[in-house]
Order: sequence, then C-alpha cells, then structure tokens
Amino acid sequence: MAEHTTENRAGHLRTTVHLEYGEVVALCRCFKSKQFPFCDGTHKTLDSEVGPVVVHAPKEPQADEGNN
Ligand code: FES
Repeated sequence: MAEHTTENRAGHLRTTVHLEYGEVVALCRCFKSKQFPFCDGTHKTLDSEVGPVVVHAPKEPQADEGNN
C-alpha cells in the first residue's frame, strides 16, 4: 500500500509517495482531499475541471532503477 512522507525543504513542503511494484494511485491536484496526497473524490464537488493525476508503478524493477 502506498505510503507518503512530507518534509519541509527550505520553507516549502515536499510530499514523497512510495509505491509498491504494480501499484496504481490517484494523487490529488485540487488540494482539498481529506486524504491528501491521495484523491478522495472531493474534486467532484468543486466548481473546477481539476481531477487527480493517476500514477502507475512498474510491475517489476526497471533496468535503470537505482541510477537516479
Ligand atoms: S480530491 Fe483532489 S483531485 Fe480528487
């Protein structure tokens, strides 16, 4: 199950989401989710066209993993 951490980097909050292989998550882009950084559907109640960004983790380790 996806986990996340948030840290303050020079006065700006940075959230990092850790995914397992093959996992799919919807990340909130409207900043109204009560489960931020994950989308909880709240965006549907807003007068906005913003929806989540859906992220698919690879199903298995990639050849270049660990080189970043
Ligand atoms: S709740 Fe924010 S994008 Fe879905």
